[in-house]
Amino acid sequence: MTGVDLMGIYDIFDDRSASTISGAPLDRIAEKYGTPVIVYSHARIVANIRRIKEAYQGHAKILYSVKANDNPRILEIMHQESLGSDAASPMEISISVFSGISAADILYSPNNASAYDLEFALDRGITINFNSFTQYRKLREKPSRISFRINPGFGMGQFAGITTGGTTTKFGIDPDTAIMAYGKAKDDGCGEFGIHMMIGSNNRDHRKIAEAYSSFFRIAERISREAGVRFEFVDVGGGLGIPYSENEEDLDIASLGSSVVRDFSKYGFGELVMEPGRYIIGDAGVIIGTVNDIHNGFVGTDIGMNLNIRPALYGARHTIVPLGRHEAGERMTVTGQVCEDTDRIGEMEWRVREGDRILVLDSGSYVYSMSSRYNGRPRPAEVMIMEDGSDRLIRRREDFSDFLATVV
Ligand code: LLP
Repeated sequence: MTGVDLMGIYDIFDDRSASTISGAPLDRIAEKYGTPVIVYSHARIVANIRRIKEAYQGHAKILYSVKANDNPRILEIMHQESLGSDAASPMEISISVFSGISAADILYSPNNASAYDLEFALDRGITINFNSFTQYRKLREKPSRISFRINPGFGMGQFAGITTGGTTTKFGIDPDTAIMAYGKAKDDGCGEFGIHMMIGSNNRDHRKIAEAYSSFFRIAERISREAGVRFEFVDVGGGLGIPYSENEEDLDIASLGSSVVRDFSKYGFGELVMEPGRYIIGDAGVIIGTVNDIHNGFVGTDIGMNLNIRPALYGARHTIVPLGRHEAGERMTVTGQVCEDTDRIGEMEWRVREGDRILVLDSGSYVYSMSSRYNGRPRPAEVMIMEDGSDRLIRRREDFSDFLATVV
């Protein structure tokens, strides 16, 4: 993998006609599995992982962030590529373990965890990254290895809703409180320490990201000195972004990696850890849908906010293209089947007719994992296209029996 991207958001496809992935025709996949369906490219997932590894030249431990996409067949690829995982809940811990990831390679970063949640992780020997000192204090038996999530006082994310640092957020501990917290943990007999931050998601400016990491390293250095602890690991979290439209640039990960590795080496810390989610899986998945109606100037499809809530929730934009024929048309809004005006997936400037297939790009991350059955719509099937063009159903479409499964 060279890391040179020539097709931007079309990299998942074999060419800009956006009709095949690893040689597999997407109209055939739609025919075989029905729509909506999310299709992933195995090759693209692996290429994304390897590009990160190359950029950091083996100097960073990569924990895949399960919340981006929690399909165990996708996590198995992470495991095969020797990645660990960042889990947000007992369920995400279970999914990681099910997928082959060992407890030592899982970091649990909850917030507002219950006593049950914390014990679930402790019983399995999983390191907890505490969001607050009060959560740490709650533990009756103190672990020998812990981490605290630091709020450096600033955040950085594409939308306010996905900015997870700064003094107005619920996340993390301020540096002064952290000095006290690590001191207390040391007095409690804890012998191994990590430190973490996660300031926000979908950032593509490598200079700004590197600067934020730099400030964090300086804060970690001060905490280490004043609390008298050595950090075995320093975890910068996730947040590496991807373009969602043709006029957005790729993150220059090679420059980011080399500057971060250089900067990090100035300190006496142990291991550099990162938790990418979107960067690995975001552009490796597309939704295929069908145009069911064209009405009141809207393109009415089977892809709604029940499947992709990001546009309704954050104002996120996804590029939408027809599958097959590309004829320029007037700008139209693409909607789904939900009875709400928030049910808008995006805009499209291509001419489409009833029965045509459309593609919603960059739907590998935070789409299935944030989907719902709202308005009685089952969650879709997920299909993995392998390097040889064969397709593998990795999650079947839900049906009425799945709805009934939890009804007593
Ligand atoms: N680590 C922690 C502790 C996190 O909370 C997150 C994401 C990540 C890692 C992975 O971040 P990534 O590399 O994917 O940016 N639902 C939103 C994104 C929210 C991200 C929240 N935390 C969206 O659809 O854009």
